[in-house]
Amino acid sequence: MSIISTDIKQAIKILNQNDLVAIPTETVYGLAGNIYSESAIKKIFELKQRPLYNPLIVHVASIGQLDEIVEDFPEKAKILANTFWPGPLTMVLKKKSKVPDLVTGGKNTVAVRIPNHTITLELLQLLDFPLAAPSANLFGMISPTNAVHVLDSFQNNLPMILDGGSCQNGIESTIIGFENNEPVLYRLGSLSIEEIENTIGRIKIKNNKEKSPDAPGMLSKHYAPKTATFLVEDVVSFIQKNNYKKIGLLLFSNVIENKTIHHQEILSKNGDLKEAASHLYEAMHRLDKMDLDIIIAQEFPNYGLGKSINDRLTRASKK
Ligand code: TXA
Ligand code: MG
Repeated sequence: MSIISTDIKQAIKILNQNDLVAIPTETVYGLAGNIYSESAIKKIFELKQRPLYNPLIVHVASIGQLDEIVEDFPEKAKILANTFWPGPLTMVLKKKSKVPDLVTGGKNTVAVRIPNHTITLELLQLLDFPLAAPSANLFGMISPTNAVHVLDSFQNNLPMILDGGSCQNGIESTIIGFENNEPVLYRLGSLSIEEIENTIGRIKIKNNKEKSPDAPGMLSKHYAPKTATFLVEDVVSFIQKNNYKKIGLLLFSNVIENKTIHHQEILSKNGDLKEAASHLYEAMHRLDKMDLDIIIAQEFPNYGLGKSINDRLTRASKK
């Protein structure tokens, strides 16, 4: 029997038994467990091979449910919550003491969001507890945007993958923290900075400090395929200057005329950044399975979701 299923009742049963279920969200699939179950949370870290200092995002069904876990809600956090939830925004807020240290990596803050996916919202509403869920991939690898990607990472080491189809946004949530009640961007994601700034004005952008990142999603190497990956401005001249045999390309909207290229992934024929973002990881997963010598990715326009795509491609191409 396949562990991929749409049976919400079964998912509830497994989660109530302190076990894990992979859940769909609009961004990527999450590896979910009860935040109050020590054994469930330990399983998340073990299965993902994720270091314990790297805290998890907590998913809730409603803003009301947050009173249970969040101590303090700054004014701008309220505006963002009302504007973008359910949606691809995670906010790091002061936690209540009942949130276990294991979930937050010992921090006094907790990362929270309300995901925008019908099945998962229904699941969260039916449970008596919030779900901690990091992306359902092995630590450092490409995030999963469909149930088969999750299965590829964990095979039968996971009791169930709740199938919600392909993720609509396809890139992780944007993470915002608050320092002295002012918003700070910790991770670019599928809600653009422009959309956030249109709502609450300018926000500070945290620099990437590899040694002690506030959000390890900011670790410089992350989201990486197994195949060597390069991010370049000019794909054609990169191919000409180098001598790779089996080449895969990751491009925005136009095919490159060159018969020696093994495969080309075009993320949006219409040149739409939102569409491109939604296809990014799918395309990376496909390319990574082709046994290529190299993946060459083209730099995207550096605004809107193009910024988030460039961020992920930069990390994917780090040595
Ligand atoms: O779209 C998403 O955000 C997906 C779906 C499943 O919701 N989840 C996701 O989780 O991307 P994960 O664990 O792969 O990334 C969570 C990021 C990590 O970089 C973590 O360090 C950061 O959130 N984070 C979690 N709690 C934090 C906290 N208290 N302070 C700062 N960063 C935190
Ligand atoms: Mg992740």
